[in-house]
Amino acid sequence: MKYRSRDYLIENYKATFLAKKYATPLYCYSLKKIKKNIEEFKINFKTINPLICFAVKSNPNTTLLSEIGKLGLGADVVSIGELMKALNSGIKPDKIVFSGVGKTLNEINYAINKKILLINAESKSEILTIEKLAKLKRKRIDIGIRLNPNTDAKTLSQISTGKRENKFGISEKIFCDLVEYVKKSKNLNLKCLSVHIGSQILENKPYEKMLKVLIKVIKKTNYQFEYIDLGGGMGINYDNNNKKLNFKKYSLNIQKLTKKFNSKIIFEPGRSIIGNCGVLISRVVYIKEGHKKSFVILDAGMNDLIRPALYNAKHRIIPVRKNSKKSKKIYEFVGPICESTDKFSTLKNFQKLNEKDLVIICDVGAYGMSLSSNYNLRPKAAEILIKNSKVQVISKRQKLKDLI
Ligand code: LLP
Repeated sequence: MKYRSRDYLIENYKATFLAKKYATPLYCYSLKKIKKNIEEFKINFKTINPLICFAVKSNPNTTLLSEIGKLGLGADVVSIGELMKALNSGIKPDKIVFSGVGKTLNEINYAINKKILLINAESKSEILTIEKLAKLKRKRIDIGIRLNPNTDAKTLSQISTGKRENKFGISEKIFCDLVEYVKKSKNLNLKCLSVHIGSQILENKPYEKMLKVLIKVIKKTNYQFEYIDLGGGMGINYDNNNKKLNFKKYSLNIQKLTKKFNSKIIFEPGRSIIGNCGVLISRVVYIKEGHKKSFVILDAGMNDLIRPALYNAKHRIIPVRKNSKKSKKIYEFVGPICESTDKFSTLKNFQKLNEKDLVIICDVGAYGMSLSSNYNLRPKAAEILIKNSKVQVISKRQKLKDLI
């Protein structure tokens, strides 16, 4: 994904061409880039040889899931819907882990029937529910227990999950008690300790702290966990400032843990696999003069990409066709939704734009389409994938008639 002379290209296709052919707003992904990220991820963690379970919530598109599955990844799911989608996409049950604080009886029943690798329980009540079902079925079910390590992930508060005030996981004390309980259960087989402290983590320190807590807790339980599931959370570079999580360092720190306990590592990455593999192509509908700035009103809104509105997240916006004219105005890129938070970015020194011009909103592969909605009764955008130099429509634009 880059410029060739003045035109922005996704692999070998000009974004201008794609926008014309498939209309806008348009999500566009590159399979080449997905493959590259997965390759890099595997190389960085080669020594610990983890099972990599792609976090389906970051992008549940069936074609993408099936491509990711073909590249050897499993899936991390958080609902029966995601579990069905992962299975439907060809991902084998023995590579699927099920996380989440509110799994219902129905969801747990389905997961048991499908014989997935692990159900990672997040409360005593959930453990009892799994046990009750297992007893009824006269089965012994493999489970993990999610620890809340009370570790600050040093990321946005809205996407932090590992502190004691967060609803996720189980505190150290209760965790140890539950290990004792499950050890004695005839219908549960405790296989895994799982943890996930948050998302978009760019520093190694929080992971180091989390690993220290794990070592302490595992020693306390004196239990041999077959798996340690370290969750996901590895951040990506949204603003091109080269700040990046040091994967090699993280891997070295994990080796200290695996050497001590001889457990197999599971990861649940979403964003680091797919985040920078997708862009949102959008067209300028109107340009309107405002107080000290100009509003660039796009045809993509917060229903298509909610991250800026929800987390004040930053996504780079760049022109589809570069020109040499700088605008003297400050541009505020907004969507058409009737909400003041429907705003993507405020930029100085952008090139001069005209109505009908096209722009690219960068790095929307993760938590872009998956958090989209029909708010203001707007149909969901189409998704296309560039695969082996060909364009494939992997999700059709929703039709207005289906909404009305
Ligand atoms: N495992 C568990 C248990 C999780 O809760 C999550 C993300 C992941 C794995 C994957 O995390 P990742 O590697 O993608 O960071 N909507 C927010 C992100 C919410 C993440 C929720 N859990 C955003 O757009 O930034």
